[in-house]
Amino acid sequence: MRRPVIAGNWKMYKTQADTRAFFERFLPLVASSTHCDIVVAPPFTALAAAVGAARGSTVTVAAQDGFWEKEGAFTGQVSMGMIVETGCKGVIIGHSERRQFFGETNETVNKKLKAALAAGLRPIVCVGETLAEREMNLTHAVLEKQFEGAFVSLTGDEFSRILLAYEPVWAIGTGRTATAEMAADSHRYLRELAQKRFTSERASALRILYGGSVKPDNIRGLMAQVEIDGALVGGASLDAQSFASIVNF
Ligand code: 13P
Repeated sequence: MRRPVIAGNWKMYKTQADTRAFFERFLPLVASSTHCDIVVAPPFTALAAAVGAARGSTVTVAAQDGFWEKEGAFTGQVSMGMIVETGCKGVIIGHSERRQFFGETNETVNKKLKAALAAGLRPIVCVGETLAEREMNLTHAVLEKQFEGAFVSLTGDEFSRILLAYEPVWAIGTGRTATAEMAADSHRYLRELAQKRFTSERASALRILYGGSVKPDNIRGLMAQVEIDGALVGGASLDAQSFASIVNF
């Protein structure tokens, strides 16, 4: 039995004050939610505020990106060690918005992934196809390329520490969710890849989250699929009430 994970990716939303206000409302709503891991990923500037506000709860905090070098002349970058210092436990790597708008490639995902693991962070690695790729029947091919690229020279032990997120780009922020069956098909394929690349044990222990317009009213249908181990939630994680309803699916 894989333990579910419900993670919120706040993207470029919320100040430190907004973050504290969110946790004040959110924590009482999930105080008895012991059935899943709960993760919140605020912008860099609000990480320390989130860690402080979540102290004493089971909610952990993750960053939305991190750089592979430890330090140096890399204006604007934040290292994995710096993220650890804020009290974060995880980091999102390879989100499609970073791939689309900030030049993230499978190679940079791999470098960031290794740096995150070396720093002791739990990486949430994102993969997913665009609408054009889906329409050209390239979904599996794209997932395979992203999977292989992300996990170049990764050991089985390292692989067992990651979470994978399947986020079809066409379903992100569009209100268009993949049907539970579509998501489950991709999750099944990703698990097959994990089995080929690593072992059956590691593949069956891998937790794969679905992301793309997850809302309080569709989370149950998604979680009813045995292949779906959790959700990476964007827009609906910004509101304490709505994110709590998703956590308490
Ligand atoms: P939405 O839930 O807003 O579609 O965003 C999904 C996402 O990108 C989470 O990382």
